[in-house]
Amino acid sequence: NKGKYEHYMQKEIHEQPESLTTTMRGRLIRGGSHKVKTVLLGGLKDHLKTIRRSRRIVFIGCGTSYNAALAARPILEELSGVPVTMEVASDLLDRQGPIYREDTAVFVSQSGETADTLLALEYALENGALCVGITNTVGSAIARHTHCGVHINAGAEIGVASTKAYTSQIVVMAMLALAIGGDTISNEAKREATIDGLIDLPNKVREVLQLDQEMKDLAKLLIAEQSLLVFGRGYNYATALEGALKVKEVALMHSEGILAGEMKHGPLALVDENLPIVVIATRDACFSKQQSVIQQLHARKGRLIVMCSKGDAAAVSPGESCRAIEVPQVEDCLQPVVNIIPLQLLAYHLTVLRGFNVDQPRNLAKSVTTQ
Ligand code: UD1
Ligand code: F6R
Repeated sequence: NKGKYEHYMQKEIHEQPESLTTTMRGRLIRGGSHKVKTVLLGGLKDHLKTIRRSRRIVFIGCGTSYNAALAARPILEELSGVPVTMEVASDLLDRQGPIYREDTAVFVSQSGETADTLLALEYALENGALCVGITNTVGSAIARHTHCGVHINAGAEIGVASTKAYTSQIVVMAMLALAIGGDTISNEAKREATIDGLIDLPNKVREVLQLDQEMKDLAKLLIAEQSLLVFGRGYNYATALEGALKVKEVALMHSEGILAGEMKHGPLALVDENLPIVVIATRDACFSKQQSVIQQLHARKGRLIVMCSKGDAAAVSPGESCRAIEVPQVEDCLQPVVNIIPLQLLAYHLTVLRGFNVDQPRNLAKSVTTQ
């Protein structure tokens, strides 16, 4: 049931304040002062000690689910103190890459049925790792075969392009980082800020959804383009990859997410006055580096669209020709949840304006159950 919306993708983008609320429901536990003190993930509570003691956490997934894990990786590294590595499921299988008994392997999958992820799970089970699932589908193969896990509870996702599952996956993995990190003194400030940020996140998402018309206007400008680059780094490298994936899979436009730190090592050669480039430059520890990236792209006459924090449009725009997308600022580790939304809206509007099937892009299936 699409309700008042024309397409499932549109509905699922706009229901993110509610899906995120459901994802967090019952999992943020209040202390005596009624302040939220801690995170409770029922499915993991008996396994946290083992996870904390593991030699390494390995995230494994495909497509959007991989991107969600990439977005959560920095906060997991920061709070857990355990090294975190990333594996695209098919690549892990191609290489028969190392997975050890001392590893915690975390399988991220909206459907819980993706063949590559499931085969990687079997491989990790054979190698003796603790296998944790993060999935949206109760009773799915990945939920059944993992040792333990967390359901993201985002509600059924029908549009082939994953939107609300992506943001709920990031929120679950931020909660996972809090749960593994525990209440050590050294983590206290970060933990409190992250918990406060989680509680307020649905409101911030509601605020960023008001950019809908602005993104439709931007889509009109980009309708006939051949290609779109998206530059991000740090917490928002994942946003660049995921934004580009949305544009390519539904709007059928070539798009590439680029790690901004790699700009000078090749991608800069593509920059001219025609190619549109989105640069994510919201406030975090990477902000000044992104300002310098903007200057360098501008010096080569790049056609820039800069995503920045509210109030920063003038500060980040190098010239009249640069467009700014202002988004609310949140705790750095949660910023990817806010920042992806304008790009989801852009991909959606581009697709509708270009006349393509937004809920069922050609050649794609919602759940990829073959290798
Ligand atoms: C559970 C109930 C929820 C109830 C809540 C109240 C289910 C599915 N969930 O939620 O309805 O409101 O208790 O306390 O009945 N699991 C895996 N792999 C996965 C995902 C989950 O093994 O990929 C396991 C978990 O380890 C856990 C179980 O499935 O044993 C349920 O997980 P989850 O729904 O996340 O647990 P709760 O949030 O505690
Ligand atoms: C993109 C998309 C795919 C899936 C991928 C993994 O919008 O939906 O990239 O994310 O096929 O699917 P799950 O998460 O079900 O394992």
